[in-house]
Amino acid sequence: MSFDFYRRHLLGMEGMSKGEILHILETARSFREVIMRPIRIVPTLRGYSVVNMFFEPSTRTRVSFELAEKRLSCESVNFSSGGSSVSKGESLLDTVQTIEAMQVDAVVIRHSAQGAPHFLAERIRSSVINAGDGYHEHPTQALLDMFTLWDKIGGLSGLKVAIVGDIAHSRVALSDIHSLKTLGAEVMLCGPKSLMPFKVESLGVKITSNLEEALEFCDVVYMLRIQLERQAGERFPSIREYRQRYCLTMERIKKFKKDDFIVMHPGPMNRGVEISAEVADSRYSLILNQVTSGVAIRMAVIYLISGGKDRGKF
Ligand code: CP
Repeated sequence: MSFDFYRRHLLGMEGMSKGEILHILETARSFREVIMRPIRIVPTLRGYSVVNMFFEPSTRTRVSFELAEKRLSCESVNFSSGGSSVSKGESLLDTVQTIEAMQVDAVVIRHSAQGAPHFLAERIRSSVINAGDGYHEHPTQALLDMFTLWDKIGGLSGLKVAIVGDIAHSRVALSDIHSLKTLGAEVMLCGPKSLMPFKVESLGVKITSNLEEALEFCDVVYMLRIQLERQAGERFPSIREYRQRYCLTMERIKKFKKDDFIVMHPGPMNRGVEISAEVADSRYSLILNQVTSGVAIRMAVIYLISGGKDRGKF
């Protein structure tokens, strides 16, 4: 199971029920109200310790987990692999068991290996929260995306969402596909065939390589960057050609005359490649709303995993 209130892990969105997702979103709504107060900190998780272990770079996820933990009054510690004994050859399991021996309650982990959080969850006593594993899943990103949409438009049933770009190497795409489908949205994937995942047909989504077709279909377009750091070889002729075919520009949006159109992106953006600066900063963009949602969602996830209401009100 990807989310388990009893064993208290969040490993992925695959298999999470609609009721579980909505419960997390409702909890995040309460925490959003908390972080809008003049004093944004609640004492709810005093004495609960969380270690943030990022073996890959991050800005949004790492900072928002840390802020979420501080606003819940957790003891929060950041581990970075550079400067640690990982550089002396210590394994992932030995590293995490060493940290766990210092009596921590939860581990937030981002790692380049698919399944690293699942591997740890089977072997350690602490709760494990997946902050992104290779190109597998990024569940808190999907939850904050669902929260952002839910907050903006209410129920997602029947909503048409196009996810555009490097689907093959995107952990965000997979977590969002599972979440959107569970909440009743229709999903279309768009990108070059070489950037579609193996067995993409099994995901139960529409597929196109034509951006115009995707824009005509959707109410929400979710743009992804090309993950050059995960590509062993060239998967498309050039960035210039990619930009010509897939960059979301204002001209492309206006062609379809959708006033309530929504543009999303998980960040980091490559302005001028998959999205123009004008679109990123436009009234259509919910990109900074997504970042804001990240803190409330991560507070909700840590709170629920810690035992939720048994630990007190906030
Ligand atoms: N969306 C996301 O995961 O961003 P970071 O890599 O900056 O955490």
